[in-house]
Amino acid sequence: MNPKADVIAIAIDGPSSSGKSTIAKGVSKRLGMIYIDTGAMYRAAALKAIRAGIETGDREAVGNMLPSTDISIRFVKGAQRVLLDGEDVSDLIRTQEVSNGASKISAIKECRKKLVELQRKLAEGESVVMDGRDIGTNVLPNARFKFYVTADADVRAMRRYLELKNADRLGGMTYEDILAETHERDERDSNRSIDPLRMAEDSVLVDTTHMSADEAIDFVVRFVTERI
Ligand code: DC
Repeated sequence: MNPKADVIAIAIDGPSSSGKSTIAKGVSKRLGMIYIDTGAMYRAAALKAIRAGIETGDREAVGNMLPSTDISIRFVKGAQRVLLDGEDVSDLIRTQEVSNGASKISAIKECRKKLVELQRKLAEGESVVMDGRDIGTNVLPNARFKFYVTADADVRAMRRYLELKNADRLGGMTYEDILAETHERDERDSNRSIDPLRMAEDSVLVDTTHMSADEAIDFVVRFVTERI
C-alpha cells in the first residue's frame, strides 16, 4: 500500500491582501496540512536584489544574480521561515519596498523558473496548502482543490494600510498611496506575460469583501471536508 496515497494539495490564489494567506494558514492548521507561502520566496529574491542595488525589474542583472542565490524554507513550530543564502529573512521581507520589488522580480522568467521548481519539490508527497498567484494554473495544476480568493481593491488596500500601521511600518504612506500601489501591483501581477494572476477554470471563488477571515476559513474547510 502506498502510505502517501491520501496526499492532497489545496491551491489558493488571489491578489495581494485578499486574505489568502490568512485563509491558507487557517485551513492548513484545521486540516493538519503544511502551509507554503510562495510569495515569501519572490520577496526573498527581491530583498537580495534591493540589498545589492539591483533594479528588481532588470532581467539581465537579476538573471546574473540568481545562480548564486539560495532560497529555501524551513518550518519552526509549524510556521514557515524563509532563508536567503542561509539567513532567516522572514521578518525583513514584509516592507512595502519589498512588496513592490517582489511584484517586479516575479515577472522575470528565470526567477519564476527557479522558484516554481522549488515549490513543486516542496509539494511532492506531502499534503500542502500552497498560496500564491499561479498555484492552481501553473505550479500545481493537478491540485485536488483550488480556490481563488479576492476582495474589492479598496478593501484590500485598507487591510494592508492597517497591517502596516499596526506594525509601525507605514513610513509616512497614506491610505491613498497604498490604494494606488495596490492597483499598480494588481495590474502588473495580472498582465505579465508569464503565469499571470488569473482564476483557474476549476477553482472556487471566495470573495472576502464582506467576509471575516474565520468565515472564509470555515467555508474552505467545509468545502474540502465534504469532498474527501
Ligand atoms: O503574496 P505576496 O504579496 O507575498 O506576493 C509578493 C509578490 O510575488 C506578488 O506581487 C506577486 C508575486 N508572486 C507571484 O508572482 N507568484 C506567486 N506564486 C506568489 C507571489
